[in-house]
Amino acid sequence: MLNYQQVLPFIKKTDLEALEPQALKAKEDLLHKTCLGNDFVGWVDYPNRLSEADLKAIVAASQTIQNQSQVLLVIGIGGSYLGAKSALSMLRAYFKKTGGLEILFVGNTLSSTYTKAVLQYLQHKDFSINVISKSGTTTEPAIAFRLFRGLLKEKYGSRFNERIYCTTTIGKGVLYSEAINNNYQIFAIPEDIGGRYSVLTPVGLLPMACSNIDIYQVINGASQAIFNFSQKPFWENQVLLYASLRKALYDQGKRIEMLVYYEPKLHYFGEWYKQLFGESEGKNHLGLFPVTANYSTDLHSLGQYVQDGHRHLFETVLNINKPEEDLTIPLDQLDFDQLNYLTKYSLHQINHQALVGTTMAHVDGGVPNILINVPELSPYYYAYLVYFFMLSCGISAALLGVNPYDQPGVEAYKRNMFALLGKPGLEKLTEELKKKR
Ligand code: PA5
Repeated sequence: MLNYQQVLPFIKKTDLEALEPQALKAKEDLLHKTCLGNDFVGWVDYPNRLSEADLKAIVAASQTIQNQSQVLLVIGIGGSYLGAKSALSMLRAYFKKTGGLEILFVGNTLSSTYTKAVLQYLQHKDFSINVISKSGTTTEPAIAFRLFRGLLKEKYGSRFNERIYCTTTIGKGVLYSEAINNNYQIFAIPEDIGGRYSVLTPVGLLPMACSNIDIYQVINGASQAIFNFSQKPFWENQVLLYASLRKALYDQGKRIEMLVYYEPKLHYFGEWYKQLFGESEGKNHLGLFPVTANYSTDLHSLGQYVQDGHRHLFETVLNINKPEEDLTIPLDQLDFDQLNYLTKYSLHQINHQALVGTTMAHVDGGVPNILINVPELSPYYYAYLVYFFMLSCGISAALLGVNPYDQPGVEAYKRNMFALLGKPGLEKLTEELKKKR
């Protein structure tokens, strides 16, 4: 899966050897839950702890939702949004076949235009809600829930509660109380799993099941990843190698990791990856800045900078070996566009040569390249990849010396926003901010 040949021109093998003991220790600390932030490492073995009854309850709810509604509205933000969104984008067809459940996301933005558009769209549709929030108090999804719960009440009267599925922490927060008071079906987010590490819990699994994604295959892929990455020695362990390569490149002055894909279905996987690494590592003025690029599209926008701009970045390329679909270039008798030389290739082969050629050019231009080969886009490999990145992130953060499971920096904007909106209790800050304006 991991190929780091195109990093070796930039680092010495001894750099990796030097990181081996720290990486091995970080892995052991994580697996034995003795690491920094160990209150939040329940995700490490969660897929193996999920019971058959848990999975059956998720599948049963997904069937009820598909029977009762045309649309499932998923309400959530950050880790309560990006995991499910990334799985659906990666694993569903580009264009919805007729029939079948449509899945929309709200509560991931404060855009009034978008939110109103969804409200209007749902006026004439049967819909159910899966509201997802670990804390049960996050502003964006809370506002959306109030609005769309109101619409459900308008449409279905006293039976509105039969269409609300609530994924939250058991026993905590206003969302949990609301769910108990109104008898919504509840799915638990384990207390020891933070948002950006929660996609393999009901947070991601219920929306996936509603899309007819085989969640048993998802769990199989995650379990295989747990087995492989916990057992293998350093030089065969792709997680340990990837985390060490990132650290070695960081130590050399690289400050940006660009996750690159050549298949647009990976766009939201990239968004999930940005949250995972950005919120986990970006603290104490440390960390690689995670960005993404969709090639070859972005070679026509960002490509110039990557080839010739400031040399502070490296690329991690996701290569999907087997496309879901392929097609050939038809022969044209007149060769009007001079493309007949391409007719011996499929479009996927052309895309792959774009990857090979780009890698060579960028490495020549001073951009180290890590290649991650993924056999195909499937529920199994989705989860395998998710687990690979989560474990790599935990180990990378340990190599950097930061706690990957908190996000204190996210509070600053919230406090200001609440104060500016006049939230009771923040009057002093409201006055200070008014003077600054
Ligand atoms: O990773 C995290 O913990 C955050 O990004 C959260 O997922 C995000 O803030 C949403 O929080 P909640 O699920 O409590 O609404």
